[in-house]
Amino acid sequence: MSNRRLILMCALALALAACGGRAAGGDDGRTPPTVDDIVAQGLAAYEGSCLACHAEGGIGVEGLGRPLTDSDFIRGLSDEELVTFIQVGRDSADPENTSGIAMPANGGNPSLTTEDVEAIVAYLRTLN
Ligand code: HEC
Repeated sequence: MSNRRLILMCALALALAACGGRAAGGDDGRTPPTVDDIVAQGLAAYEGSCLACHAEGGIGVEGLGRPLTDSDFIRGLSDEELVTFIQVGRDSADPENTSGIAMPANGGNPSLTTEDVEAIVAYLRTLN
């Protein structure tokens, strides 16, 4: 009998731990996401929309996208300004363009939400 009670208590503790784990993840709508959650979301969105031109870890691809790891341009912008930059892009005809290659608006992915782009910015900050 006491053995059975112990097993029940263990099961309950496990269930509570699992719930706690989800709450800490911040995706149940009740707890705000942590910085780590946002960076993870940003990394996933980066991999979906930016990786092809800027490569794993933002090191850049010769003839495609500039490196994002050591960029005075990125460091010089506020988070809001960087979100706007990513959403607008930099046309190849833009006088600010350094390579003659276009940085497409939203990386060419129109389904990227502002929240995604904000998360990408949080991820880019970890590279600089
Ligand atoms: C089709 C290729 C392509 C994709 C996809 C792309 N970029 Fe770019 N990106 C570029 C190019 C090319 C430049 C450099 C433009 C220039 O020469 O000034 C650039 C420049 C940038 C810069 C400015 C860097 C600097 O130091 O001037 C940032 C920030 C940036 N991209 C972020 C992103 C993010 C975030 C994504 C994903 C949402 C993304 N890019 C997707 C091609 C791309």
